Amino acid sequence: MKNTVSTLLAQKQSGDKITMLTAYDFTTARIMDECGVNAILIGDSLGMVMLGYDNTLPVTMEDMIHHTAAVSRGAQNAFIVADMPFMSYQVSVQEAVINAGRLIKEGGANAVKLEGGAEVCEQIRAIVNASIPVVAHLGLTPQSVNVFGGFKVQGKNISNAKKLIEDSLKIQEAGACAVVLEGIPAQLAQIITNKLLIPTIGIGAGNGCDGQVLVYQDMLGLTTGHTPKFVKRFAEAGEVMRKGIAEYISETKEGSFPAPEHTYAIDEDVIAEIKKEYE
Ligand code: KIV
Repeated sequence: MKNTVSTLLAQKQSGDKITMLTAYDFTTARIMDECGVNAILIGDSLGMVMLGYDNTLPVTMEDMIHHTAAVSRGAQNAFIVADMPFMSYQVSVQEAVINAGRLIKEGGANAVKLEGGAEVCEQIRAIVNASIPVVAHLGLTPQSVNVFGGFKVQGKNISNAKKLIEDSLKIQEAGACAVVLEGIPAQLAQIITNKLLIPTIGIGAGNGCDGQVLVYQDMLGLTTGHTPKFVKRFAEAGEVMRKGIAEYISETKEGSFPAPEHTYAIDEDVIAEIKKEYE
């Protein structure tokens, strides 16, 4: 059954944890959907894990629409949330509504996500007024990497923690249907979760949130190098891929692939005639 805004809200109310993962393509989205994940986020993290940028800032609306449309074709039941990329909603409320509309119309998303608190409430209100559900995003918001001076945990001092609580109430009041809490202390996320009527979905925010989200390359062990503290590697899919690719290279080089079962046959009399003329 299709997950909707109401499903996520009902899950908060009943204590059934919301599961969300990122996906950026048809095949991955289909697997996640078949596994029964509640929501799929086409995160602008695609700039890093799919396109190889250092951060999410270069991601364009065209990138987001392209990947959102692929995911929407792959997922029947998951609630599809598409990230609004950097500078697609900050400049004006009008641009924010137009761009949110494109992610729904051209990408097939069910909701959009944007980063920020009080400063984006006008945009949230206008997008919701256009009948588009909005997921807010607070805490370590990656589009503010240059303001934070790196990917740093937020809400650790009193004023910052208070601002996050105030912001969460403001985005709820503006009409957000859920909020992603990223990179904040677990106890603070728990306070926000208890205060809000809308679901909180945490990443690096502890298990007191109403749900969790992870970047799939991180949780399936596809990424190399530094793994952030909040990531659990639920599988080592990178190892499985490396092994398969190494076997393909070795069998191709030694000639054991393709084997007869991977090969098309031709009638003996046809090939005999061809050989007579060409060999
Ligand atoms: O872009 C993204 O993948 C995200 C998640 C980390 C929440 O915003």
